[in-house]
Amino acid sequence: MSEKLNVDLSGAPQTMLATLYAKALDAESDKPVLGDRWAKDIVDRIDYDWSQTTITPFRAPSVTTRTAHFDLWARQFLAVHPEAIVLHLGCGLDSRYYRLDPGPAVEWFDVDYPDVAALRTQLFPPREHCHVVPASVTDPAWLADVPADRPTLMIGEGLMMYLTEDEGVALLRRIVEHAPSGELQFDAFSRFGIKTQWTNSVVRRAGATLHWGIDGPDDILEAVPGLRLLQWMSVFDAPSFVGLPWPYRLLGKVMSTTKSLHYMAQYHRYAF
Ligand SMILES: C[S@@+](CC[C@H](N)C(=O)[O-])C[C@H]1O[C@@H](n2cnc3c(N)ncnc32)[C@H](O)[C@@H]1O
Repeated sequence: MSEKLNVDLSGAPQTMLATLYAKALDAESDKPVLGDRWAKDIVDRIDYDWSQTTITPFRAPSVTTRTAHFDLWARQFLAVHPEAIVLHLGCGLDSRYYRLDPGPAVEWFDVDYPDVAALRTQLFPPREHCHVVPASVTDPAWLADVPADRPTLMIGEGLMMYLTEDEGVALLRRIVEHAPSGELQFDAFSRFGIKTQWTNSVVRRAGATLHWGIDGPDDILEAVPGLRLLQWMSVFDAPSFVGLPWPYRLLGKVMSTTKSLHYMAQYHRYAF
């Protein structure tokens, strides 16, 4: 058997080990939400004490329902724009390109910090139209190399909360100015979610800090000119969550009785 890869990450990059492990646990379960065999295979190839992620089989759907949700939205976009550019920002070791398997007319950019990008390159097989970009998403330089002639989908799953508000707004504005048209799809924590980040064991264990709290679409529409709201919802109201077994739905119902808990984590989708 080939030797396992060592990983030594801290802060925000470490949190992607938790989301990866959640997907691997899901793939092993009887009724997977996502069924991501890539995640399972990659976890088996990394030498890591996965218990450090604090992810358990019960907690895995908090990640996999989010990933399934962005797969759905991305598929919808690609069905209408088969010649799109996709900016998959803060991609971690997520296998979205391989799960969605878009046609050869799609140019896909997986962007994450250099340490994470290097791991991606080692762990995933190369694909002609899938480009790994080792950069901070806040660095304006990488976007200049992305073609600006086609509808563009930006996906930021589990990313925006790690940016400051100034960085996040500047990033969204840059994409809208760069591409002729497209969509911005991302999840966000509310300001309350940012204030209570000490309850998030994944973030705490990684030594990461969450910054940007977004309370609703108005925060984005006022900050980024040229956007039109397509969808906005609590994670508890998303189809991927509503399809979970009853203990999760009950938890979602209880959380949803309080507005601050209901909208603590949200999905945002805008057209430009
Ligand atoms: C919670 S993980 C999510 C990973 C992946 N999107 C998923 O859902 O499995 C957060 C990811 O965002 C990346 N990230 C955070 N801030 C970033 C930045 N400024 N530039 C690039 N990547 C960033 C981290 O390195 C990490 O891979």
